[in-house]
Amino acid sequence: MINFTQHNPTKLIFGENQITSLSNEVAPNSKVLLVYGGGSIKRNGVYDDVMEQLSKIDATVFELSGVEPNPRLSTVQKGVDICQKEEIDFILAVGGGSVIDCTKAIAVGAKYKGSTWDLITGKVAIEEALPFGTVLTLAATGSEMNPVSVITNWDTKDKLGWSSPFVYPTFSILDPTYTYSVPRDQTIYGIVDSMSHALEHYFHRTENTPMIDGFIESLLRTAVATGPKLLEDLHSYEHRATMMYVSTTAFNGSLAYGTDGGDWATHRIEHAVSAVYDIPHGGGLAILFPNWLEHVLEEDPSRVKQLAMNVFGISSEEKTVEEIAREGVNALRIFWKSLGAPTTLKDYDIDDSMLDVMVEKTFIKPGVGTYKTMDRESVLDILKRSL
Ligand code: NZQ
Ligand code: ZN
Repeated sequence: MINFTQHNPTKLIFGENQITSLSNEVAPNSKVLLVYGGGSIKRNGVYDDVMEQLSKIDATVFELSGVEPNPRLSTVQKGVDICQKEEIDFILAVGGGSVIDCTKAIAVGAKYKGSTWDLITGKVAIEEALPFGTVLTLAATGSEMNPVSVITNWDTKDKLGWSSPFVYPTFSILDPTYTYSVPRDQTIYGIVDSMSHALEHYFHRTENTPMIDGFIESLLRTAVATGPKLLEDLHSYEHRATMMYVSTTAFNGSLAYGTDGGDWATHRIEHAVSAVYDIPHGGGLAILFPNWLEHVLEEDPSRVKQLAMNVFGISSEEKTVEEIAREGVNALRIFWKSLGAPTTLKDYDIDDSMLDVMVEKTFIKPGVGTYKTMDRESVLDILKRSL
């Protein structure tokens, strides 16, 4: 294990009806900017629940709606303008990862006079942010308890992940019943995204990490056991709750303590694909991840073999390490396919015409991959396998 500090300042408030805590978490008489997406929260009643709580503390509420999946810089800027003009005290994100990521960018942009893109690209250091909380409505990204955000600059077609200790939510309310209305496809993407986060943490190069490795394997086995049952009954409290906690834990730092943090190359490649084609993040990962694993195991199958045996129960009898590893990748492919996830880029009508552009966009920030350092040829190879 390597040295680490375990610190996550986000207060997680989990369970049915926990929305009633909202009025304790936001200061009375605050000027609140409520940020949400395309309207799902109005259809499923979450908006009304939130407004009821905010009215209890006499908050003055301003709204930014219409945050798009794969949130855009132009929408961030609208939120920044409201915060600066109305002197907003607190931002409340109500939605999935896109709404929360957009809120994080608004929170830092509100405290900066120039373009928020300067902060996202790292051209200008982030020194402060408006405080914000979240009410999560979709289990997938972990954004509700991490300091990460992903924003797309649609003018330049760049999708950029960034992070700052200033953008941990102060609190996040996770009511599994709020995810009952998440459609089947988004539920599948959420399962894939959560599992991908766990997998990326798993591919570290730190030695003597049995507890964290076992923790990740257990989380993955839980997702494999729960995913199909959840898809059979999208209104199951039990399975929605399990997946909600799985997805938060998969990317709130818990899986990285004592390791080098894992290998996030697949996310970098997926962000490049969705920057160009605006596809759902989890859908992109379902296509790319098995191909990254195959690319990696051809050089060193040991870790993929461990995954195959400990998560998918592949037996090792009379097989080479590579054979076991390949069976593991196959099991992952079959599992995601059985859920209904896409398997090739063709599923999104993506052909080979923009491969070079996606390769370049993967390297928008230097350094892709740690378990396996990627050069442009490696990324191209993974994209070609994904066609
Ligand atoms: O916009 P609305 O109407 O709310 O509809 C959304 C959206 O269409 C809908 N939805 C959300 N909650 C719902 C619901 N529909 C019915 N009932 C509900 N309760 O679902 C659609 C997708 O929402 P979105 O927020 O885009 O999904 P997700 O949570 O998967 O977020 C994806 C974004 O997060 C980024 C991705 O790249 C992508 O931009 N990521 C952020 C990360 C982070 N901050 O840590 C890490 C991830 O790896 C990821 O990259
Ligand atoms: Zn992700």
